[in-house]
Amino acid sequence: MTLADLTTRFALDGQLRFVEGPGGLLFAEIDNHLGTASLCLQGAHVTTFRPKDQDEPVIWLSEHAKFAPAKSIRGGAPICWPWFGPHATESSFPGHGFARTVMWEVTDTAALESGETRLALSLVESEQTRAQWPCASRVSLEVTVGATLTMTLSSTNLGSTPMQIGEALHTYFQIGDIAAIRVLGLEGSEYVDKVEGGVRKSETGAVTFADEVDRVYLNTEATCRIEDSRLGRRIVVAKRGSRSTVLWTPWRDKADKMGDFGDDGWRRMVCVESANALDNVVSVAPGQTHEMQVEYRAESL
Ligand code: BG6
Repeated sequence: MTLADLTTRFALDGQLRFVEGPGGLLFAEIDNHLGTASLCLQGAHVTTFRPKDQDEPVIWLSEHAKFAPAKSIRGGAPICWPWFGPHATESSFPGHGFARTVMWEVTDTAALESGETRLALSLVESEQTRAQWPCASRVSLEVTVGATLTMTLSSTNLGSTPMQIGEALHTYFQIGDIAAIRVLGLEGSEYVDKVEGGVRKSETGAVTFADEVDRVYLNTEATCRIEDSRLGRRIVVAKRGSRSTVLWTPWRDKADKMGDFGDDGWRRMVCVESANALDNVVSVAPGQTHEMQVEYRAESL
């Protein structure tokens, strides 16, 4: 759909417009009384979100993010689907699945009575997606922007055999400094430590950061809280339909090698990903829909 068609069919006066952004990519820009957000139609990728009562964004986007067709964007809320991490058997398939680098189409928009704005999208299948994912399926995302950002990722099995999916809303949150935050809510959970080659450990308390962290916490549906003493706020990450939580910070060396973090961008972000990964991969029965929903909000400490 062209920019003109999108505007005619789905723009909402005074709160949602479509623009061509960097790299020629199309974006939805939402600005209502409660919050602002932008979403790249490639990947249905929320790139920014700020509630109006916050000076700083809640979602971090790298100042050095690359915007190009078929490339993933560093920051925002990438959608990992239909697998998380490397593909189980095909090493040539993209890490974290293809959903974040292919086109999605807008299917609906609405100005809600609450003052929030809603946008719904569906992944557009192609020969490439079918080659990597032979299951007959439909995947859609509903995004609601207000003082809270709500995202619901729905996966429907249109085939006749069970469908196994791994998934994550791989969100980068904006923080004052990685060394000055704590993540609460994972106490007592078992996790797979990817920095230490996949060894399993148990979380004993609040998580603090002094080096690279790459962990998949299993069997946890708990709300997480990012306590940020520098910004004087707490980001609340609530979820439903997600049994894994992934914590990730590359720290300096890995960020420098990745090339799209800038000099110290990595200090201003932490990923708290609501996921279904490893032991928590989801089996969706024929004709059924699995939903994973997150809600992000910020409050003062
Ligand atoms: C995290 C993974 O979810 O994503 C890490 O646990 C990975 O291992 C990180 O490095 C970033 O992945 P990507 O593909 O966006 O660079």
